[in-house]
Amino acid sequence: MAKRPEKSLVVGLDIGTSKIVAIVGEVQPDGQVEVIGLGSHPSRGLKRGVVVDIESTEQSIQRAVEEAELMADCEIHSVFAGIAGAHVRSLNSHGAVAIRDKEVTEGDLERVLESARAVAVPADQRIVHVLPQEYVIDSTDGIRQPVGMSGVRLEARVHLVTAAVSAVQNVTKCVARCGLQVDDLILQQLASSYAVLSDDEKDLGIALVDIGAGTTDVAVFTEGAIRHTMCIPIAGDLVTNDIAVALRTPTVHAEEIKIKYACALEQMASTDETIQVPSVGDRPPRRLERQTLAQVVEARYRELFSHVHKQLRQSGFEAMIPAGLVLTGGGSKMEGVVELAEEILHMPVRLGCPQGVVGLSEVVNNEIHATGVGLLIYGSRMEASGRRIMIGRSRESLWTRVKSWFQGDF
Ligand SMILES: Nc1ncnc2c1ncn2[C@@H]1O[C@H](COP(=O)(O)OP(=O)(O)OP(=O)(O)O)[C@@H](O)[C@H]1O
Ligand SMILES: [Mg+2]
Repeated sequence: MAKRPEKSLVVGLDIGTSKIVAIVGEVQPDGQVEVIGLGSHPSRGLKRGVVVDIESTEQSIQRAVEEAELMADCEIHSVFAGIAGAHVRSLNSHGAVAIRDKEVTEGDLERVLESARAVAVPADQRIVHVLPQEYVIDSTDGIRQPVGMSGVRLEARVHLVTAAVSAVQNVTKCVARCGLQVDDLILQQLASSYAVLSDDEKDLGIALVDIGAGTTDVAVFTEGAIRHTMCIPIAGDLVTNDIAVALRTPTVHAEEIKIKYACALEQMASTDETIQVPSVGDRPPRRLERQTLAQVVEARYRELFSHVHKQLRQSGFEAMIPAGLVLTGGGSKMEGVVELAEEILHMPVRLGCPQGVVGLSEVVNNEIHATGVGLLIYGSRMEASGRRIMIGRSRESLWTRVKSWFQGDF
C-alpha cells in the first residue's frame, strides 16, 4: 500500500513516567490537525519524568511508534518530544537594544531576544525555551508584535526554561536509538497548555496543573503569556504507593483499586460501600470500607494541592489567576479532585480535556493525552510556519523558533 507522504504529517511523542505515546496528526490546508494514528506503550524506564533506563525507554518508544505507524499507515522519521522533571528550571529575563533604523525590524527582534537570553545558566543546564511575554518600545509596554513600530529603544520580557544537559541528552539518545530525529523538545506543561487552555483563559490569568504518574507539572499564564513553571514530585505513583502500603496489597492491585474505586474526597464514599482487597503472599483477600481507601487518597491529594497553593503564593501569582486552575493528566481523572482543589485553593477549577484536533477524538479526548495532543498542535504550528527545526540548533534556528512562538500564541 502506498505510504502517505510524510510531509503533511506531524508526530508528538509524550515520554511519560507511566506510558509513552506517539500521536500522528495530518495537518490540513486550513491548519486543522486530524489525528490519524496513536500508539501507546507502558513506560518502565522513567522515574519522576526523567529517563533512568535508556534500553527500556528505547523499547517502549519503538513499540509506541510502530503501533502509531501501523494505525496511520505511514513511516515516522521525526518527532516533537516532551521534556519534564525536577531538573527543569525557569526564570523571567529581559533584554534591551537600540532600534537601528527608527523602526523595529526582525533583526532588532533577534538581537533583543539574544540579549534576553544572556543570563548566567549553570554549566549543567541548557536553555530549552525562550518564550517572549511582551515587548516594550521606549515607554510603551504590553506590545505583542513590535515589527514595524517606531521608537528608539526596544526591550523584550521573556520566560526562559532551562533543563539539565544530561536529561536532555538522554531523551534525545533514546529517540535517536529508535532511528528517529527530534524536531524539537518542548516542556511538557507548555505542550499540554496548547491542548487544554483557551486564549481567553491565558489572557485573564490561569494555572495549568498536569498531574501525571511521576510528577505534577504546573504552568502559569497571565496576559496571554507564560510567566512561571514548576514541577512538584507528588503525583499518581505516590497515591498508588500509599494505597499499597495502607491496604497492604501489591502495587498492581493498588493501581487497579485506585482507578476503579478511589475518590479524592472522603465524604464522597459512603460508609456501607466495601471493596475486595487482595493480600500479599498467600493470605486470603479482605473486604475493606471504600471510605478507608478515600482517606488514604485524600491525604495525598491534599498534600499535592497544598504544595501547588504554597508555590503559587510564594511566586506571587496567586492573586493574578482569576480564571483559576485547569487540571489535566491521568491524576486529574480521580473522582472528587475538582472539588478538593477548589476547597484548598479557593479558586475556580475545571478539568482540561485535549481540544483543538479532530479525528480519533474518542481516543485523544482523554486527560492522559493532553501532552501528546499539545505536542502535535505545537508541532503543526511549527510546520505551518515552514520551519522544521532540529535540535543542536544554531543562532538562526533559535530565532526562527522564537519568532514562531511569537506569531503563535504568545
Ligand atoms: N481514572 C483514573 N483515576 C485516577 N487516577 C488515574 C486514572 N487514570 C489514570 N490515573 C493515574 O494517572 C497516572 C498516569 O497519568 P499520565 O498518563 O498523565 O502520566 P505520565 O504522563 O505517564 O507521567 P508523567 O507526566 O508524570 O511523566 C497514573 O498514576 C494513573 O494511576
Ligand atoms: Mg505526562
